[in-house]
Amino acid sequence: MYRSHTCGELRHAHINQTVTLAGWVQKVRDKGFMIWIDLRDRYGITQLILDEERTPKAVFDLAKTLGREFVIQVEGTVIERESKNKNIPTGDIEIMVSGLTVLNSADLPPFTIEDQTDGGEDLRMKYRYLDIRRNPVKDKLMFRHRVAMEVRNYLSQQGFIEVETPYLIKSTPEGARDFVVPSRMNEGQFYALPQSPQTFKQLLMVGGMDRYFQIVKCFRDEDLRADRQPEFTQIDCEMTFVEQEDILNIFEALTKHLLKTIKGVEVDNFPRISYAEAMQKYGNDKPDIRFGMEFGELNTLAKGKGFNVFDAQELIVGIAVPGAAEYTRKQIDALIDWVKRPQIGANGLVWVKYNTDGSFKSSVDKFYNSDDLFAWAEATGSKPGDLILVMAGDAHKTRTQLSTVRMEMAERLGLRKPEEFAPLWVVDFPLLEWDEETQRYHAMHHPFTSPKPEDIPLLETDPGNARANAYDLVLNGNEIGGGSIRIHNSELQSKMFKLLGFTHEQAEAQFGFLMNAFKYGAPPHAGIAFGFDRLVAILGGQESIRDFIAFPKNNSGRDVMINAPAPIDDEQLEELKLKLNL
Ligand code: AMO
Repeated sequence: MYRSHTCGELRHAHINQTVTLAGWVQKVRDKGFMIWIDLRDRYGITQLILDEERTPKAVFDLAKTLGREFVIQVEGTVIERESKNKNIPTGDIEIMVSGLTVLNSADLPPFTIEDQTDGGEDLRMKYRYLDIRRNPVKDKLMFRHRVAMEVRNYLSQQGFIEVETPYLIKSTPEGARDFVVPSRMNEGQFYALPQSPQTFKQLLMVGGMDRYFQIVKCFRDEDLRADRQPEFTQIDCEMTFVEQEDILNIFEALTKHLLKTIKGVEVDNFPRISYAEAMQKYGNDKPDIRFGMEFGELNTLAKGKGFNVFDAQELIVGIAVPGAAEYTRKQIDALIDWVKRPQIGANGLVWVKYNTDGSFKSSVDKFYNSDDLFAWAEATGSKPGDLILVMAGDAHKTRTQLSTVRMEMAERLGLRKPEEFAPLWVVDFPLLEWDEETQRYHAMHHPFTSPKPEDIPLLETDPGNARANAYDLVLNGNEIGGGSIRIHNSELQSKMFKLLGFTHEQAEAQFGFLMNAFKYGAPPHAGIAFGFDRLVAILGGQESIRDFIAFPKNNSGRDVMINAPAPIDDEQLEELKLKLNL
């Protein structure tokens, strides 16, 4: 028996018991005649004590040789501590050690295994298994497990069945590039790793499974960001005989359940706004609504007053930054430089201070009087003490730029509170997106998404304006889920493929299996997928998903611990018939 208890378990009630513990040496404090050791495992830390008088000599001498991260087993008696440590659950007791076995020695770790470590990101990634011993990382993995269990139990209780779908599949276009895997048995042919189990879950509906879910890995070869990994996890779901209302209700209930059980937070019914409204009010299809700063359009108020910079623009739009009228010229200039950086690419920023005494001071005082500026304040919902920031230009671009400013100002003002949760549904997405580069339409969600029935005629006349039966779940400014009502009619599906620029032959070659399945009684169906890593990170109060993944990749898509990707042997290349004849 390696241990009778864990290092997080012993309390006052265990005093006088003989126990055996095993774990890692976190710290040794050697006072010569007395040694204290902090012994750590996943469950906590227990203090060990050895003294020259009471501890057998061989044990005492062995303890002197211990270093950080040695793996040891100790036997001893639980005793009351003289100076208690209120900061840890085992702080009332310590173990008077009578026996010690070194199970394994350890090299000095490259960084300290403490909550505040001296290890930089790269080093910690390289030795991720050591990083995982630290509470901040370990706790996140345990948190992830708790969320996964809640999701599984909840969906299972709602009649969803977890079905595994294959990882070696054929490329399905979902907007990103595929990771491909060469087939040894089929020369010159490749599997693709799934970007999502989309077509399989639809086929499960044709197969009559009715309610499917899967906590599943997905793979996308796309540029990485804090909230994106090349392999990530979805809570993938699909249902039969449901409408959009059913899906929104069921997955709103799941999200509420998670917020309640995991965070103890009760939220009201989620607001629902259309994509068009989200863009107009927030310049963003995943708005953070924990704070206001809604857009106010100023076209009719700001044009024709002699300020020709504005006159020619498609859109003039502003936000009121709460309490920021105190910003100094220097701060405002820095903000203007910030919006001009290539990442945002704005031409500039017009500012208006709505002073607490009700007066106005602006960068455009020459063109606009107080009445004009008061009208701007009304349109942006500005109160005395606020700073109004205004941008102008091409409508879509300007909205996107002002949205970045809105988020930045919220961040600076501390309005993006991690423990506040503001979920919402964004609905009625456009069905298609025009791609200038390829000069053709792309599916905004994916090619299996159904148009709104009333917009089906637009597919012939004005496809760019057709809306989709598609919805996103947004939480604190992050897209954490997305789904749609699917097309279940092979004729409409063929029409979609045609709109997306597929010839009949291409559609047949790529999706023949799906269209064929639709001929055999495909039921109406719909679904959604949550980004599980994102959901967990946001519930955990963070936006970067990396620490919530046990072994993540870095920004270049590398696993620096195992050093992947890596070249493969000539022999392997030959076997796969991939050897290049250079
Ligand atoms: P979608 O492409 O919107 O939909 O993906 C669903 C959710 O997955 C998360 N996500 C990611 N998380 C981390 N890293 C990534 N690279 C990444 N890419 C996406 C997002 C996103 O909302 N098959 C459809 C779902 C459906 O229609 O049912 C799909 O995959 O949180």
